Amino acid sequence: MTKQKLRIGMVGYGFMGRTHSNAFLTAPRFFDLPYQPELTAICARNADRAKAFAENWGYQSTETDWRKLIARDDIDLIDIAAPNNMHMDIAIAAAEAGKMIMCEKPLGRTAVESQKMVDAVEKAKVPNMVWYNYRRIPAVTLAKHMIDEGQLGRIFHYRAKFLQDWTISEDLPQGGEGLWRLDKSVAGSGVTGDLLAHCIDTAMWLNGSIDKVTAMTETFIKTREHTLTGKIEPVGIDDACAFMGRFSNGSLATFESTRYARGHKALYTFEINGEHGSLFWDLHDLHRLEYFDHRDEGLTRGWRSVHITDGEHPYMDKWWVPGLSIGYDESFTHQAADFIMGLNSEAAAPTFKDALETDKVTDAVLRSAETGQWEIAN
Ligand SMILES: NC(=O)c1ccc[n+]([C@@H]2O[C@H](COP(=O)([O-])OP(=O)(O)OC[C@H]3O[C@@H](n4cnc5c(N)ncnc54)[C@H](O)[C@@H]3O)[C@@H](O)[C@H]2O)c1
Repeated sequence: MTKQKLRIGMVGYGFMGRTHSNAFLTAPRFFDLPYQPELTAICARNADRAKAFAENWGYQSTETDWRKLIARDDIDLIDIAAPNNMHMDIAIAAAEAGKMIMCEKPLGRTAVESQKMVDAVEKAKVPNMVWYNYRRIPAVTLAKHMIDEGQLGRIFHYRAKFLQDWTISEDLPQGGEGLWRLDKSVAGSGVTGDLLAHCIDTAMWLNGSIDKVTAMTETFIKTREHTLTGKIEPVGIDDACAFMGRFSNGSLATFESTRYARGHKALYTFEINGEHGSLFWDLHDLHRLEYFDHRDEGLTRGWRSVHITDGEHPYMDKWWVPGLSIGYDESFTHQAADFIMGLNSEAAAPTFKDALETDKVTDAVLRSAETGQWEIAN
């Protein structure tokens, strides 16, 4: 039987435009989806590059103005893979047009923007989701199941870090294509909204909400040439951030992120310590979950490094045979599949409303770094 189509209009053909396109192409081949995703239109400002992208990925058409994309009757879902300053306007317009929306993270540049986006999708009652893809790496999903089943018992600590090293050079400009993350007016913040947002989303998914935080941030290089103006301009983003917090369940949180940790490209790790055991996960070794269970008996009690590739592991029955790993891109495939499967039941998380909670925490972190005080995060 031919499935009804889910016609996708994507905004942005950069890094995330590619992961999402790949996810929508791959998901129906590995998951039994109620609708058939169709790459209907790609939107970006440069017509020639949009056309080349469309040819490579199989999009049927191109647009150079996202408003025209949203006005089209042959689009069901708007997928926002553009820089952060674009998210709010596109999402609100898409909601008003009755489109389903998937949006990249962080939802808004601030929680004020995100709240407006939540209001828009709730008023329009359109399915919505934010691409916090790390939730859908099988080892991370398994961690969630184990914690929910009480295998760790009472939780004492959660710690996470996300380290990179690509902005250390003083000669690196800010702003424009590829470097918009260094321009606060576009990105909203530096590592806090870009990298720690991932850590916070995962943390709150695994361990519940964060009540309050105290933070410090640093901008190591204070001025950089702006690509668009050619002038030396102040740098407004946080290059590094460390914060402590307290979860609603009483456990203690420590988080750190920087783009100045030589040798680290995308070192995202988290560890959670409970009364019965601990879990540790590392993005560089994403198909492994490290697990210690204090209740193990005997002299060989110790950390187990579990290879998350068995058919019983989350998502893994959809892939190859036991022992063969999947990677980063499949987390997006899982998210696309879950969204499409969730259309006939309750919306798959994280919704805009869930992602707003992350933005409230990142706002509180940045506020605390300025005031030097503990700040309430929700
Ligand atoms: N989930 C994740 O792990 C993850 C990873 C990277 C980026 N992101 C998020 O994805 C979003 C995009 O990041 P990226 O790394 O793909 O950026 P990118 O710079 O690689 O791509 C951005 C794209 O947006 C397009 N764009 C910019 N302005 C536009 C406009 N006015 N109209 C149409 N298109 C426009 C650009 O041409 C480009 O194709 C950001 O919000 C970022 O925070 C998420």
